Amino acid sequence: MNILLTGGTGYIGSHTAVVLAQAGHQIVLLDNLSNSDISVLARVKALTRSHIAFVHGDVRNQELVHKVLMDHHIDAVIHFAGVKAVGESVEQPLRYYDINVGGTLSLLKAMRHARVFTLVFSSSSTVYGNPQYLPIDEDHPTRCTNPYGRSKLHVEEMLADLAAADPHWRIALLRYFNPIGAHDSGLIGEDPNDIPNNLVPYIARVAAGKLECLRVFGNDYPTPDGTGVRDYIHVVDLAEGHMAALQALARTNQSLHVYNLGTGQGYSVLEVVRAFEQASGKTIPYHIAPRRAGDIATCYAQAARAEAALGWKAQRTLQDMCASAWKFQASLVLE
Ligand code: NAD
Ligand code: UD1
Repeated sequence: MNILLTGGTGYIGSHTAVVLAQAGHQIVLLDNLSNSDISVLARVKALTRSHIAFVHGDVRNQELVHKVLMDHHIDAVIHFAGVKAVGESVEQPLRYYDINVGGTLSLLKAMRHARVFTLVFSSSSTVYGNPQYLPIDEDHPTRCTNPYGRSKLHVEEMLADLAAADPHWRIALLRYFNPIGAHDSGLIGEDPNDIPNNLVPYIARVAAGKLECLRVFGNDYPTPDGTGVRDYIHVVDLAEGHMAALQALARTNQSLHVYNLGTGQGYSVLEVVRAFEQASGKTIPYHIAPRRAGDIATCYAQAARAEAALGWKAQRTLQDMCASAWKFQASLVLE
């Protein structure tokens, strides 16, 4: 298949590009490089020994996207491009709606014009809000407490309306839990520009000596050790989930599908710290800090639907996630 990945040089996009190109698909990456570096392209090419086309541009540029769809005879789009920091979304809601909602709307119009009707969308477990029950299945009510989450939910609703209105569409909404880790090669991974908000990139920098000490946000949650529990999923498993979703869309008669992509297993902050210490051989200094505003105690997926419908199941362990994240981090130290 000819597949367009918007946001393709980003963290999840680049890993998905590798998985798809290695499976023989023709890949086009479109990215405005607002949160990724062009050096990723050479790395993806080196890993896959394939030709990977790159278009430097904004997903909101409908004319450009239409041209890319036509020029490359695109069969399907995976839409990663977007902004994703919860705190920033509270400060800059219009930017979040513009890029995440406006960007998707523009992409959909370009796709319809080019008669490309297959779409995989990057959604998030954040659409479930504070869980009413665990594990969280796809029928769990949705509720968002910040503009980032609401932008994802708005897009999901827009896609559901579109799927209901026009039977040409084949759309998969993938609700990711907590993607972490890196490609086994250590060549690509997650390296945020600013001080990381997320746990594992932060720990990786502490292990590398770039940050002093991890703040553990709260140890008084109703969890086994009092720290927050999340469903961490290896980014390569997640990438493979996208390929499985595309394959499933090719054989379905139904327009809209919703899948959780998680492992079904939760780990606490302190369990992740210990796993990272083991993987890296480094001590991770930490102290207990107050709870972070907006955080929930526990979140993990019911992953059965994806397994049954996509034949996909996350394979990699927390050790694999930490070891690969550390390999990538260590390669940055050497650069
Ligand atoms: P990322 O920031 O690494 O990748 C996003 C890419 O999109 C970046 O390369 C950025 O330059 C590009 N981009 C941003 N705005 C653009 C625009 N207007 N036009 C073209 N390109 C643009 O983020 P990621 O972690 O790879 O996330 C990918 C998607 O998955 C996002 O939509 C995010 O909301 C979603 N998601 C991520 C997580 C996570 O934990 N990483 C969890 C749930 C959902
Ligand atoms: C966050 C986002 C969520 C997004 C997800 C992507 C918030 C409130 N939620 O989820 O919308 O989809 O990232 O992966 O930002 N922690 C620490 N110290 C740190 C960082 C984190 O103790 O320095 C703890 C948190 O309190 C939490 C766990 O580690 O218990 C995971 O945090 P994080 O990686 O930020 O992910 P989420 O909060 O689950």
